[in-house]
Amino acid sequence: MKLSVIGCGYLGAVHAAAMASIGHEVVGIDVDQRKIDALSKGEAPFFEPGLQEILTAGIAAGNLRFTTDMAEAAGAKVHFVGVGTPQQKDSYAADLTYVNGAFDGLLPYLAPGDIVAGKSTVPVGTAASLAPRVSETGATLVWNPEFLREGYAVQDTVDPDRLVAGVPAGEEGEIAASVLREVYHPSVAKGTPFIVTDYATAELVKVSANAFLATKISFINAMAEIAEVTGADVTQLADAIGHDARIGRR
Ligand SMILES: NC(=O)c1ccc[n+]([C@@H]2O[C@H](COP(=O)([O-])OP(=O)(O)OC[C@H]3O[C@@H](n4cnc5c(N)ncnc54)[C@H](O)[C@@H]3O)[C@@H](O)[C@H]2O)c1
Repeated sequence: MKLSVIGCGYLGAVHAAAMASIGHEVVGIDVDQRKIDALSKGEAPFFEPGLQEILTAGIAAGNLRFTTDMAEAAGAKVHFVGVGTPQQKDSYAADLTYVNGAFDGLLPYLAPGDIVAGKSTVPVGTAASLAPRVSETGATLVWNPEFLREGYAVQDTVDPDRLVAGVPAGEEGEIAASVLREVYHPSVAKGTPFIVTDYATAELVKVSANAFLATKISFINAMAEIAEVTGADVTQLADAIGHDARIGRR
């Protein structure tokens, strides 16, 4: 399938190369000329196990290319949007400037039947506010959050624990989910859970997963402080509580 990936940073560069590695024809698009020049030469901009190999292989096979020209998204069936959503200065809110910019740039090149798959981590309500603009072009917006771990980014993209697709109600959503299943066909074929939700749930799954993982780290850090004042060994403590499957070892 022809795919575009808008935003070729950590998430996008890995996603583009990983999608090419499972047989798709992929164009990666970014506003950063230096990043695109490096990726076009097959140079991974950061180290991730396996990234260099799939980048080189995709470019050599001719099914992976990179450009700064958004017009090259035209003709792709699915457009993944993975631009940054940093924290706003002086606020806890996410800065959606790049998401809005990417949608503004992409909308003129969408065709009826296209799918736009948002991958950026966004506050709940973002997809619902973008969907009417995508619908006007005849395309469908889905929200498909990314759960990759740095250090395992390629593995997690090619073989994720689960896939989540937030879709609009009705037949339009069912069709969009089935197109995404086709995109992720190797994972779907091996039985990876593919969870179809509404937009709000998909957005909240990602932020709640982040919050839960942060809570685990904060918890063991707090236990380390208690261990220090009580003379206990936090490493042994973590090992011992980790044997309980409800707590886990990771
Ligand atoms: N890095 C991770 O481990 C990870 C994991 C899961 C989810 N995410 C989420 O994915 C999103 C992207 O994160 P990242 O780490 O890849 O960020 P990043 O800063 O590495 O990359 C973002 C890229 O988007 C590009 N960009 C900005 N505006 C653009 C536009 N209008 N058109 C095309 N490209 C544009 C930037 O030039 C940059 O290369 C964030 O929402 C993040 O929370 C990241």
